[in-house]
Amino acid sequence: MMSRFLILSLLLATCAIAFASDPSPLQDFCVADPKNPVLVNGVVCKDPKLVKADDFLFRGLNMMGNTSNDVGSNVTPVTVAELPGLNTFGISMARIDFAPMGINPPHTHPQATEILTVIEGRILVGFVTSNPENRLITKILEKGDVFVFPQGLIHFQKNLENKYAVAIAGLSSQNPGVITIANAVFGSNPDIPGDILAKAFQVDVKFVYQIQSKF
Ligand SMILES: *[C@@H]1O[C@H](CO)[C@@H](O)[C@H](O)[C@H]1NC(C)=O
Repeated sequence: MMSRFLILSLLLATCAIAFASDPSPLQDFCVADPKNPVLVNGVVCKDPKLVKADDFLFRGLNMMGNTSNDVGSNVTPVTVAELPGLNTFGISMARIDFAPMGINPPHTHPQATEILTVIEGRILVGFVTSNPENRLITKILEKGDVFVFPQGLIHFQKNLENKYAVAIAGLSSQNPGVITIANAVFGSNPDIPGDILAKAFQVDVKFVYQIQSKF
């Protein structure tokens, strides 16, 4: 009895590792039907007979994003939300535009590993490993260089030049998710109580309120 339980536990643990990325598809395609009210892990499939070529198409990644914002960058995502044919395929992509010296602020993708290549410009990239080391791993990328940001880890990019830069990223989920650290910590709705952040960041609570007021 006990050994059967152990084998089952081992099997379940193995499955958890095997399913660390999006699950594999069980049919040719499952084009997302976002209007369907049924909630599943992913998006419900559209009737395959009603599927059209356009369901597998996204246009416009040649277009530069608007980087006139506080951080000087813009992400154009192509996930299942923009491209319904991606549903169940465990993959997506994005274009990242950078204003001169612009940054893509520290953020994480809870569901995806990211692989990024520089199309134009020179970009400083970095990610931080988990506790307790919290080691910062950084590199300066030139045009054509490819860098990987491991799933779930906090990472960032910075344009090092005084001209516009562009990168293209591939992500190992149809829905990578994004948590921008500053926005999540200081711009949550409602706010995380100031005394909690003051202790966490070891600063006076007035600095916390000052940062919270910017988000
Ligand atoms: C870019 O975004 C800024 C700030 O939101 C806005 O004022 C500006 O009109 C936008 N530019 C274009 C070309 O859409």
